[in-house]
Amino acid sequence: MTLYHLSVTLHVLAAMLWLGGMLFLAAVGAPVLRQVEPPALRAQLFRTLGQQFRTVGWIAILTLVVTGVGNLYFRGLLPALTQPGFWGLPFGRMLRLKLIAVLVMLLIQAVHDFRDGPRASRLQPGSPEALRFRRRASQFARVNAVLGVILIYFAVRLARGG
Ligand code: HEM
Repeated sequence: MTLYHLSVTLHVLAAMLWLGGMLFLAAVGAPVLRQVEPPALRAQLFRTLGQQFRTVGWIAILTLVVTGVGNLYFRGLLPALTQPGFWGLPFGRMLRLKLIAVLVMLLIQAVHDFRDGPRASRLQPGSPEALRFRRRASQFARVNAVLGVILIYFAVRLARGG
């Protein structure tokens, strides 16, 4: 196994962990938790699950960024990024789309994890304010899951030359 293979393997595993976790929470975790009574227990479960996934998610994101740059490095593509015309080539265009999707996802994830999520958990469980924040937090999570699926399509295109 070369370092390049190791880098791509870790990259794909981190993508599975982040996106897989997000899709699991959106499709299975949240719908089940929403049925839990009383509201205080529901809020506590949401909070604990959110905090645990937040740590795992940011470790996965860090791994994705480091190994993503590693993938480019081991393919000898890092110097090409500053070559005139690179970003107009099919590979460059796909890399740009992928990086934009990554940035938007990171931004949404940060707002969701560090602002709306904790704020929703601090409010009185079941109150209209808490519900409003929870709804917004889950909308953000859903948008990010959809973006993640689009990102995987960009990644597949990128790995095959754009
Ligand atoms: C700074 C951010 C990133 C960079 C620079 C980057 C770069 C790359 C590169 C160059 C490859 C091609 C590897 C190869 O086959 O030689 C790749 C593959 C891949 N990337 Fe990323 N990536 C980044 C972030 C992400 C994120 C956030 C995800 C998903 C959540 C992701 C998912 C994937 C997947 C699944 C593949 C494998 C595709 C395949 O083999 O068909 N990447 N990435």
